Amino acid sequence: MKTRITELLGIEHPIIQGGMHFVGFAELAAAVSNAGGLGIVTGLTQPTPDKLANEIRRCREMTDRPFGVNLTFLPSLTSPDYPGYVRAIIEGGVKVVETAGNNPQQVLPHLHAAGIKVIHKCTSVRHALKAQSIGCDAVSVDGFECGGHPGEDDIPNFILLPRAADELTIPFVASGGMADGRSLVAALALGADGINMGTRFIATKEAPVHENVKKAIVAASELDTRLVMRPLRNTERVLRNAAADRLLEKERALGAALRFEDIREEVAGVYPKIMLEGTMDAGVWSCGMVAGLIRDIPTVKELVDRIMAEAEAIIGQRLAGFVRS
Ligand SMILES: Cc1cc2nc3c(=O)[nH]c(=O)nc-3n(C[C@H](O)[C@H](O)[C@H](O)COP(=O)(O)O)c2cc1C
Repeated sequence: MKTRITELLGIEHPIIQGGMHFVGFAELAAAVSNAGGLGIVTGLTQPTPDKLANEIRRCREMTDRPFGVNLTFLPSLTSPDYPGYVRAIIEGGVKVVETAGNNPQQVLPHLHAAGIKVIHKCTSVRHALKAQSIGCDAVSVDGFECGGHPGEDDIPNFILLPRAADELTIPFVASGGMADGRSLVAALALGADGINMGTRFIATKEAPVHENVKKAIVAASELDTRLVMRPLRNTERVLRNAAADRLLEKERALGAALRFEDIREEVAGVYPKIMLEGTMDAGVWSCGMVAGLIRDIPTVKELVDRIMAEAEAIIGQRLAGFVRS
């Protein structure tokens, strides 16, 4: 399948694996790229720029296809060494960067000077337009359904994607709630040029996370996510667990007085315990409503091939059948 995104990124299928903290290691990114999509290594999961440089090298050893690096701009007090991470990306010869979390204006000139394409992930049309105006090459439009940070506007993809299509001129991919060939065809119909998936790629054989995480996603329904940290205007969609229930109870009890310190135990430094050790109640972790559509743990290639075959059958048979005379 050829779209503006496959052309822009030099990939076979219009499927991107979004950056995911303590999931987006070289193993997953390389598997997605080898399957014909775009795999993305999560920059800040690596504790230093040197470690990221090493992860990029590892990924390159596992694939000769294009892959990207995610650079998330966090609302944190002690800022990570972003110039160092950018240097590691450029010197590592990476050709695509997914930015998220905040306006990437600071890093854009450096990345563009190195010939790197920048996809900015955002949750509103106004932020997508801002990204376009500062020169981003593409955007990933993340609807309210998404795992992770959906922003504060709460606009689901059935509205957000056509709104984005009406306003944007640069290519964009649909993110949030994407799982299968139906998602891809729907995203294309709504004006997107491809899809970005997070949660679905965690439940694959190659995702280098504990089996408990994959099983939790398969066991979950679409009713099992919760929005946390809304009072801090840092909303995150997570899988419901004991930590999420406890955090929401604190939010209810403290109301407007809630501070980050009050919920530190549920959110700070919990990812390694969950993703690597499989201690599922160690804290809250991002998960999309799309968990309700995930029922198996295929290899990445099986998943990508299945999505493409299903999408082509829907377009060529089901949809074409409606308009045939
Ligand atoms: C476990 C997990 C961790 C994530 N970590 C990040 C991150 O560090 N940076 C980022 O930009 N997005 C992150 N995301 C968001 C994904 O890249 C993607 O936008 C989102 O998962 C799409 O929604 P979906 O889960 O419905 O496919 C994360 C998502 C999940 C599920």
